[in-house]
Amino acid sequence: MALVKRSSAAAAVTSGPIDDIFAALAQRPDVVSFAVGAPDPALLSTELVSSLSLDAIRKYGSTVLQYGMTQGFAPLLDEARNLLRNRHIRCSLDSMHISTGGSGALHNVCSALLDPHDVVLVETPTYGPAVKEFGSHGATVVGVPSDDFGIVPEALEEALARYDVAFVYVLPTFQNPTGRTMPTERREQIAEIVVRRGTSIVEDDVYSDLRYRGVSPPALCSFAPDNTIYITSLSKTLAPAIRVGITVMPPDLLHSVLALKQGIDMQTSTYCQAIAAEFLGSAAGAAHLAHVIDAYSAKLDTLVDAVERHFPQGFRWLEPEGGMFLWVEGPRGFDADALLGTALREGVAFLPGSVFYADGDADHRNTMRLSFANVPRADIDRGIAVLAALCEDTA
Ligand SMILES: Cc1ncc(COP(=O)(O)O)c(C=O)c1O
Repeated sequence: MALVKRSSAAAAVTSGPIDDIFAALAQRPDVVSFAVGAPDPALLSTELVSSLSLDAIRKYGSTVLQYGMTQGFAPLLDEARNLLRNRHIRCSLDSMHISTGGSGALHNVCSALLDPHDVVLVETPTYGPAVKEFGSHGATVVGVPSDDFGIVPEALEEALARYDVAFVYVLPTFQNPTGRTMPTERREQIAEIVVRRGTSIVEDDVYSDLRYRGVSPPALCSFAPDNTIYITSLSKTLAPAIRVGITVMPPDLLHSVLALKQGIDMQTSTYCQAIAAEFLGSAAGAAHLAHVIDAYSAKLDTLVDAVERHFPQGFRWLEPEGGMFLWVEGPRGFDADALLGTALREGVAFLPGSVFYADGDADHRNTMRLSFANVPRADIDRGIAVLAALCEDTA
């Protein structure tokens, strides 16, 4: 019998198939893993972070080791405004806060927006940890049909007519898991619907700086600023361990979010925020980002080339213009979930697409997410050759 009483939130979240896959991978360093959606360790620059850290200490002294404002470290808030302006988001200081990563932002925002039994609409497929977060607040998560460009406007209209919705959660740029990007016109359509219906959007945008080709569409937030809570983070460009996220929202909501954040983690580490401010404001930071983009772009080229050469007929994939993911769909009857065990034995890993569907719908077992950022470039072709051969045998 459990001695410690659990909350209903703890009961609502259980470990899932992704946790099992990562536990298996931890025992198998030999595996070429397209499963992990983390940055390349070779691009996590200890030299850069130590020099940014020294610069921050020289500039701000012991302030960086002190408690600070819950809203965020002022120099970082200033730098963040420039970053947001480049994404066509014009915001005043009273609409921004610095969170402990994008994940912290999501938690803070959900704490302010969600009550048990509220409905959250999500794209299909969508980012799994967000679904877990919504579930931990007692929300019901409903998937809205989506195509290669994101959530389908007509389907969103239908869902909004059917449910009383707390918010719609979308990842318009280099989506996790599909890598797809919502074009400008679709963003305008979604924004128009949301504004007309008086609902809110949570826009999760942690990959948009990793663009390898093409032109960035304006953030969805820029088309519906009064209805959107916008979340971004420096985890994919600087380092996940710095744990810095940036959020924009209507000022009256920010007030509640900050009051709640005081109880959640008081503030995001001042030290990490100072490092992040140096990163965003320095030529060294810009040079690092350019280097990261070059390296991931080369990996994506290698991956696309390998997939084109090795995958059998009947498989299709979405070629992203950035981010970390390539989404593969096999023919009907192909079962990626069943393939994973064999793939691991043969030395290659991926995440079955089914784990990214909020409804756990068995219809999606023919899909896979291939994450390329964390795989050494030299291993990509070999890994894809093995995976493609297994797909050919089972499709
Ligand atoms: C879509 C999405 N949102 C949020 C996060 C969390 O980012 P952070 O490290 O900033 O908490 C991730 C991390 O993989 C992600 O893929």
